[in-house]
Amino acid sequence: MALERVESIPSLAPRPADSHKGRFGSILVVAGSRGMAGAAALAGASALRSGAGLVRVATAAEVNATVASFEPSYMTYPLPCDEEGVISFRSSQGVLERLMEKVDVVAVGPGLGQSDDVRALVRWLITSAGKTLVLDADALNALDGDVSVFGGLTQPAVVTPHPGEFARLVGVSVDRIQGDRENQAASLASRFGHLVVVLKGNGTVVTDGSRIYVNRTGNPGMATGGAGDALTGVVAALLGQKLSPFQAAQLGVYVHGLAGDIARDQNGEIGLIAGDVVDALPDAFDHVV
Ligand code: APR
Ligand code: MG
Repeated sequence: MALERVESIPSLAPRPADSHKGRFGSILVVAGSRGMAGAAALAGASALRSGAGLVRVATAAEVNATVASFEPSYMTYPLPCDEEGVISFRSSQGVLERLMEKVDVVAVGPGLGQSDDVRALVRWLITSAGKTLVLDADALNALDGDVSVFGGLTQPAVVTPHPGEFARLVGVSVDRIQGDRENQAASLASRFGHLVVVLKGNGTVVTDGSRIYVNRTGNPGMATGGAGDALTGVVAALLGQKLSPFQAAQLGVYVHGLAGDIARDQNGEIGLIAGDVVDALPDAFDHVV
């Protein structure tokens, strides 16, 4: 199977003067648990800084006030949680079903935590929610290597694993993944319609199984907790602005890396933290739009 190598970076169309927020996508971030409020906040703030019309963050009730206090521009939805501070799907399904009627894109996973209920939540989102998805971090861990569930997708999904998450997803060692990143990512994507795979790290790979893009922005300063949570929000926002899933992933990793490069120029690689990447997104978008 020959992969088409994509080099050109897509861009967002200029906003018409009579724009209203309904045009730019309503994003739901499902993320966060005890001790990981920041993951939900970073993903939500990144979606806002990437042009989303409206951002909602649904998170474990226990951390909701913390998540809300990070950022006044998104709405938050406290979901019932278990004794570990992880979202309880059984008690949240009704709220989530009503939220699905309001949103265009669902990004799920950063700091979500792990439990049987989280496994049920992620499977429900993939097979029954009918929304365009971004799946990251614990949403991918929740699949326990059972990628066959992607056969149940009715809408596009972008998955954004780091090499460890990818290895767990496909049941292959990290060394083998890292030794053959492009083919490993493409082979997963090609098994399912609707699936775009973003294999993160130096030279992030974006592929839908027939096209492939290897990103060259970004730097080792981004090897810092939460940098990936920011990418989740960026890709979700671009999906909400009607880029195709492949293009949203491609522009997303490019702009996210560029923001990391801008943040590195300001703070150096050593001092760079994930919030700096979020803060640099407006500058980065200025370079591509
Ligand atoms: N060069 C370029 N880009 C890099 C580099 C590098 N050397 N190192 C990291 N990055 C980029 C990646 O491409 C990715 O976009 O920074 C981001 C890091 O994302 P993650 O690996 O997901 O890291 P993080 O955000 O800390 O994840 C938070 O969730 O995924 C889980 O196990 C993970 O507990 C961790 C948490
Ligand atoms: Mg991560």
